[in-house]
Amino acid sequence: MQPQNSQSSKPFMLATWSFSSNGCSLAWPNLHSGGDSLDAVCTAAREAEADSKVDSVGFGGLPDVIGRMSLDACVMMSPEKCGSVCAVSRHLHVTDLARLVMERTSHVMLVGEGADSFADSLGIPQTELLSDEARRAWERWRSGERATRPTDQGVDSGKLFSSPSPIGEKHIPHDTIGVLAIDTRGVMAGACSTSGMPFKLSGRVGDSPIPGHGIYVDPEGGGAVATGTGEFVMGVSGSFLAVECMRRGSTPLEAVREVLERIERRHKPLPHQQVGIIALAPDGRWSAGALCSGFAVTIADASGIQSVAPEWILRPEV
Ligand code: GLY
Repeated sequence: MQPQNSQSSKPFMLATWSFSSNGCSLAWPNLHSGGDSLDAVCTAAREAEADSKVDSVGFGGLPDVIGRMSLDACVMMSPEKCGSVCAVSRHLHVTDLARLVMERTSHVMLVGEGADSFADSLGIPQTELLSDEARRAWERWRSGERATRPTDQGVDSGKLFSSPSPIGEKHIPHDTIGVLAIDTRGVMAGACSTSGMPFKLSGRVGDSPIPGHGIYVDPEGGGAVATGTGEFVMGVSGSFLAVECMRRGSTPLEAVREVLERIERRHKPLPHQQVGIIALAPDGRWSAGALCSGFAVTIADASGIQSVAPEWILRPEV
């Protein structure tokens, strides 16, 4: 357990899940020697996108119900500086693409074929996104799914195919990579990237690419990124809520608790349904929490890179 409302020093990185440690390790040297927070969060997310062992982000991510990959990502520095892409199906590095939307267009979000065409127009090479391993997992899931239609991650087991579980097992705790960083100048940036809910309905987009839901950064309040069942986070504007709580004076821990307790109250998640959230205040205080056990965060600072348990878990017995 972390000490309450841990205080970091600049520069600093905070990311969801232990699988983000590779990306944080890659990003840290440049951030430590004065590099930009935006470069740091994009480097960390890009590493996860390229890692075929991460089954919830980029190449190696699990596809939708018909075996088709679609990726979502968002980068954010402030309410005025934000970019996002949803349902990208031909390009791997969606975090970089979201950054290009932010830096080269007057829009915030590009979706589907439009986002892929934007990447084409910039000369970004197309990539096969479905790995052999993910295709085999989808084939195994599809044979089992016909019989059972298992539910695990989703929202309402009564809704048609709302909540498939990978291969009928409890969901492996890998989900959106969300990264927040403060650089030596005190500038904060955030990024998140995901292949979304495994075996989702085609066209489903979760919280991750939507500013205020999966990610929010406001220099006046701080930053937050969520991971887990996006439908729960979207219902409470989870990342905006966390940052707004901090902007109004809550500690990062209080902000995280407010989001998770509101999800619990409103959505009534099943015992194993997970949401994790990280929160970083402009002065470097940070916290993380989750609905149930299994969540981890990665931190990078002058003392090194380590993965630790979140400060607070709503249902630690699960
Ligand atoms: N949190 C990722 C998603 O629900 O798509």
